Amino acid sequence: MVDKLPDNLRGRDLLSLHDFTAEEIMQMLDLADDLKARQKKKDPHQYLQGKTLGMIFQKSSTRTRVSFEVGIYQLGGQALFLSSLDIQLGRGESVADTARVLSRFVDGIMIRTFAQSDVEELARYSDVPVINGLTDLLHPCQILADLQTIREKKGRLAGLKLAYVGDGNNIAHSLLFGCAKTGINISVASPDSYKPNERIVALAREDAALTGAKIEILTVPAEAVKGADVVVTDVWASMGQEAEQQERARVFAGYQVNEELVSHAAKGFIFLHCLPAHRGEEVSTGIIDGLHSVVWDEAENRLHAQKAVMALLM
Ligand code: CP
Ligand code: NVA
Repeated sequence: MVDKLPDNLRGRDLLSLHDFTAEEIMQMLDLADDLKARQKKKDPHQYLQGKTLGMIFQKSSTRTRVSFEVGIYQLGGQALFLSSLDIQLGRGESVADTARVLSRFVDGIMIRTFAQSDVEELARYSDVPVINGLTDLLHPCQILADLQTIREKKGRLAGLKLAYVGDGNNIAHSLLFGCAKTGINISVASPDSYKPNERIVALAREDAALTGAKIEILTVPAEAVKGADVVVTDVWASMGQEAEQQERARVFAGYQVNEELVSHAAKGFIFLHCLPAHRGEEVSTGIIDGLHSVVWDEAENRLHAQKAVMALLM
C-alpha cells in the first residue's frame, strides 16, 4: 500500500498554470521531487492503480507522449494513445461528444491540440480531469518541468531572473504564468510582431502582483539576458507554422541564443529548451551541448512533474 495523497486538487483540470495558486503549483513541484526520488530508489508509488489516461494527440510528440505513458504506468495505471488520425474526432465528431464518451471509459484525458478553446470545451463536457498537453497558446506541463529543473539546479525560484528569447509562443506564455506565480523575474525578448499575447501578459501581471515578480517585454535579446540566471529559447516556427518557416528564420535571425548573447547572463546561468531544438537556428550547438545546458534533465523532469499532476488530479 502506498500512503494517501491530499485531495485538494482531485478532479481539477490543468488547462493553464494561471488557474492555480502559487501554493498549488509548489505542491505539484514538491510531489514531483518526491516522486523523482522514489522512482530512483525503486520505492513503489502506485497512486493510480487501476486508473486509465486517454491521450488525444492532434500534433506530433516525443516527450509528452512517452512521459505521460511511462508516468501513468509507474503510478500503477495505464494510458491509451488516441491519435486524431484514428479516432472519430479527426472525422468531425465534436469535442463535446468526444469528452462525454471518453469520460465514461477513462479516469483522465490529456490532449495536445491547436486551439486552447478546444481544450476548454473538452474540459467543460468531460466528467474527468483534462490535462493540457500543449496548445498553440499554452504548454503548462512543460513549464512545471522547467520550474522543477530550475529549483533543482538553483535551489530556489523566487528572486531569480529568467530570460526568454524568441517567439512569443505557447512556451513564452506558460513561462510568464509559471514565473509570475513563483516569484521569478521574467524578461522576454521578441521581434515586434512576435511578442507574447497581450491578454496573457496582462493576466501574468495580475499573478506577478501577488508575488512581486517583475515582468519585462522587450525587443533586444541582450537586454533581456543581462544578469539572467536562466536563459530559455524555443523554436522559431511552432507546430502548425511550417509554412512560415523561411519568413520566421529571417525575422528571428538576431534572436539566436549563442556564446555572444549569453556573455550578458549571470556567471552560473543555466540554459533550458523544451525540445525539439534546431541547432544553428534558435540556439547554437555550443550552448545547447555546452556546460550550462540542462536540457536533458529538463526533458526527464517532464516525467516526474506530470506524474505529480496525474497523482493529484486523477
Ligand atoms: N517539449 C515537448 O512537449 O516535446 P514533444 O513535442 O516531443 O512532446
Ligand atoms: N513551441 C513549440 C513547442 C514544442 C514542444 C511548438 O508548439 O511546436
